[in-house]
Amino acid sequence: MRRALRSGGESFSPDSDAASVRRLFALIARAYDPLNSILSFGLDAGWRKKLADSLYPMPSGRDGRILDIAAGTLEVSMVLAERFPEHEIAALDFCLPMLLRGKKKAMKQRGDKIRLLSGDARALPLRDACVDAVTVAFGLRNIRPRERAYAEALRVLRPGGRFRVLEFVNTEKPVLFGLYNFYLDRVLPTAGSFFSGNKAAYRYLADTISRYPAAEKLDEEMCSAGFAGVRHEIFTAGIVGIHSGEKAA
Ligand SMILES: C[S@@+](CC[C@H](N)C(=O)[O-])C[C@H]1O[C@@H](n2cnc3c(N)ncnc32)[C@H](O)[C@@H]1O
Repeated sequence: MRRALRSGGESFSPDSDAASVRRLFALIARAYDPLNSILSFGLDAGWRKKLADSLYPMPSGRDGRILDIAAGTLEVSMVLAERFPEHEIAALDFCLPMLLRGKKKAMKQRGDKIRLLSGDARALPLRDACVDAVTVAFGLRNIRPRERAYAEALRVLRPGGRFRVLEFVNTEKPVLFGLYNFYLDRVLPTAGSFFSGNKAAYRYLADTISRYPAAEKLDEEMCSAGFAGVRHEIFTAGIVGIHSGEKAA
């Protein structure tokens, strides 16, 4: 069912045209980090570390490079910078307020090491075969069509390069006795509204999870896009998963 969500004069189309998505994240950029921790009960940091760990072992080399797309406030990029000190980390997002929030934070840690790229995951401003890994955390479900993001990731990856997706799982199974769906439908929009002042944005984010493909379907999608060795791992009681694929060597 198609629904336009309104709040404070803002409306977000569940069909997620890029301009709406960018505007949405600009509106919640300030609240994004604290809300992430509150709404995930502090589990989000562990999920992002798991994503970075899923890249091991990375090919070493002087010009090793990892691209984090839909990087937002650099939560994943900073973990990557910590875990892979030999590699250059590039963080790409099309919402500048999110990137700038992240930059402020990262400067205190390893900001010098993270290169910011303002751009669209569907048209990466990078040459062919120049990165060893592409990561995307809690971003793929906002990108339409996903096929364009897959094609771009494959284009910029070197042969053998890794693609990793961290995302909430869309499942019809009653996870945690139905509490997960209750949380997405009721708690997330209400709590998000309370803390960020923007219910429509958090309603939209919950809706994107229910419109995201189930894990097996996403595997098929990644295979069709041309990734090799596609697989997934689901954890935290079935709430979150990492999808992996490689660019054929
Ligand atoms: C939920 S945030 C995730 C941020 C970060 N990866 C994290 O783990 O917290 C999603 C981000 O995806 C970005 N985004 C959505 N569609 C995009 C696109 N087509 N190109 C680049 N960035 C995009 C948004 O601007 C937003 O910052």
